[in-house]
Amino acid sequence: MKITVIGAGNVGATTAQRIADKELAHEVVLVDIAEGIPQGKGLDMFQSMPVEGSDTRITGTNGYAATAGSNYVIITAGLARKPGMSRDDLLAKNAAIVKSCAENAFEQSPNATFIIVSNPLDVMTYVAQKATGLPRNRVIGMAGVLDTARYRTFLAMELNVSVEDINAFVLGGHGDSMVPLPRFTTIAGIPIEKLISQERIDSIVDRTRKGGAEIVNHLKTGSAYYAPSASAVEMVKSIIRDKRRILPCAVELKGEYGLNDVVIGVPVKLGKNGVEQVIEIELSDEERAALHSSAEAVKETIAKLRVFD
Ligand code: NAI
Ligand code: 2OP
Repeated sequence: MKITVIGAGNVGATTAQRIADKELAHEVVLVDIAEGIPQGKGLDMFQSMPVEGSDTRITGTNGYAATAGSNYVIITAGLARKPGMSRDDLLAKNAAIVKSCAENAFEQSPNATFIIVSNPLDVMTYVAQKATGLPRNRVIGMAGVLDTARYRTFLAMELNVSVEDINAFVLGGHGDSMVPLPRFTTIAGIPIEKLISQERIDSIVDRTRKGGAEIVNHLKTGSAYYAPSASAVEMVKSIIRDKRRILPCAVELKGEYGLNDVVIGVPVKLGKNGVEQVIEIELSDEERAALHSSAEAVKETIAKLRVFD
């Protein structure tokens, strides 16, 4: 089991560390254009393995030769959001970065499954799928797991209960138009509207939508990486172990939810073949309209892409 993590910045390095700590792979290769950074972080992480009790071997590199034969490629390369910067501002630069990373990694590892993290997430997943020519089950975007983790955390804070007892999911694009679904949210099986007032639910939904910006405003010089890396690793773990977890992930839709030619967050079953199934749930008119409007926003951004011209 070999995993390549491209981008050795905050999200990439933390993702590599979590994979190694959990011993999910025999080998992790960290790739970055910054000279010395992946090498230094990789060696430092490797040296923590005797203490962690893990035999994962981590190496860092500025090229792709050492990534050959990877089973999974996680793309986190790109620029992070700064205060006042929208995710779409990152579009042109990150599209060129993600396209080249995906092409280079695919050349070395044609059998790999790709997990995309770079922003704007849904569009970068589309870019990676187009750049590799892979089917949709093998190019999967991470955002819904993170957005849902934020929502679950806020609900657990509100009720002062275990985060583990909050069952929920957030659909749609990773942006202000994401679609948290209170109707499908339960606390240990109890519908949330039985425990929380509508006013408080609305406020938690709003905080979830702005969850990324809240962290950016605190950090000032970068964006979140602990919860994002944990979320990417949860997806990888479900695939590697063929757990068949149902997680909200960004994936190309082929008619599901009445949507085509767009990558957007929906619940999927993640197993050894990557996306084993796109789960379609019956949405209310209002929820469906919100998902469609979110998909429209993603489509508009895809239309602005110039990297494949
Ligand atoms: P960072 O700035 O700490 O790290 C990015 C790394 O990418 C840097 O080390 C940089 O040298 C590297 N890089 C740039 N161009 C490259 C290339 N062509 N090849 C290889 N490496 C390259 O940023 P951070 O915090 O790690 O975030 C990374 C990306 O993930 C950003 O686009 C950010 O917006 C996104 N993100 C997405 C989330 C999601 O939910 N999908 C959550 C958190 C971050
Ligand atoms: C987040 O939601 C920046 O997309 C990133 O934290």
